Amino acid sequence: MFPLTPKRDWSYLKYSKMSLRLGDIAPDFTAKSSIGEINFYTYLGDSWGVLFSHPADFTPVCTTELGRTAALQEEFAKRNVKVLALSVDGVDSHNKWISDINETQHVHVGFPIIADEDRSVANAYDMIHPNASETFTVRSLFIIGPDKKVKLIITYPASTGRNFVEVLRVIDSLQLTANYSVATPANWVNGEDVIVVPAVKTEDALVKFPKGVNIVKPYLRYTPQPNK
Ligand code: BEZ
Repeated sequence: MFPLTPKRDWSYLKYSKMSLRLGDIAPDFTAKSSIGEINFYTYLGDSWGVLFSHPADFTPVCTTELGRTAALQEEFAKRNVKVLALSVDGVDSHNKWISDINETQHVHVGFPIIADEDRSVANAYDMIHPNASETFTVRSLFIIGPDKKVKLIITYPASTGRNFVEVLRVIDSLQLTANYSVATPANWVNGEDVIVVPAVKTEDALVKFPKGVNIVKPYLRYTPQPNK
C-alpha cells in the first residue's frame, strides 16, 4: 500500500494569473486609439516605450497625469521614448477628453491613448487588479526597451497621481545602465556620479572608467557618469 498523501487543493489557481515580470517580452497588440489603429511593436519601432494605464477618461487625476506627460513630450522624444496611454473607454470619449486636457492643462496631447474597450490589452498587461476595481485599470506603467523586453513596472492606486519627472529619471538610469557596467545610487539624477557594478573587479574598473574610481569600500565604488 502507498502511504496516503493529503489531496492538494489547486482551485485557487483559477483566480490567479501570471503577471508580467521584468525581462519578459512585452505583449504585442493591435488596438484602436485616439490617433487611429495602432500596432504596438510597429508604433515603437526601435524606440523605447512607456505604456501607462488610467482608470477612466474624464477623471481629475488622470487629466493632470496626461497633461504632465504632454508637457514633457520633448523630454521623452530626446530620450527616444514613445509614450502610449490607455484606458478602457472608447475613441470618441478619448478625443473629447483630449480637448479638455489640452484646454485645462495648456498642452497639446500628441501621443496616442489606446481605447481598450474589450480590456484585452489591460488583461495582457495585468492592469486590472480585481481587489482594487473589477472593471477599471489601476495606474500601471511599463517601460519597454528597444528589444521589446519589460525594463520597469510601477503600479499606483487610482487615488495617487504619478510623478513623470521620476519616470524620466528612471529612463535615464535604464538607458545608462544598459550601455555601461554601472548602477545608479539612491536619488541619482542624470549627471551625478554612478556606482561601478560589483561584477567589475577594481583593477578592471580603473581601466574601464578612465575618469577615475572612488573606492569608498571594496563593494562601494563611484565613478563620474561615463557618457557625460
Ligand atoms: C482620477 O483619475 O482622478 C481618479 C480615478 C479614480 C479614482 C480616483 C481618482
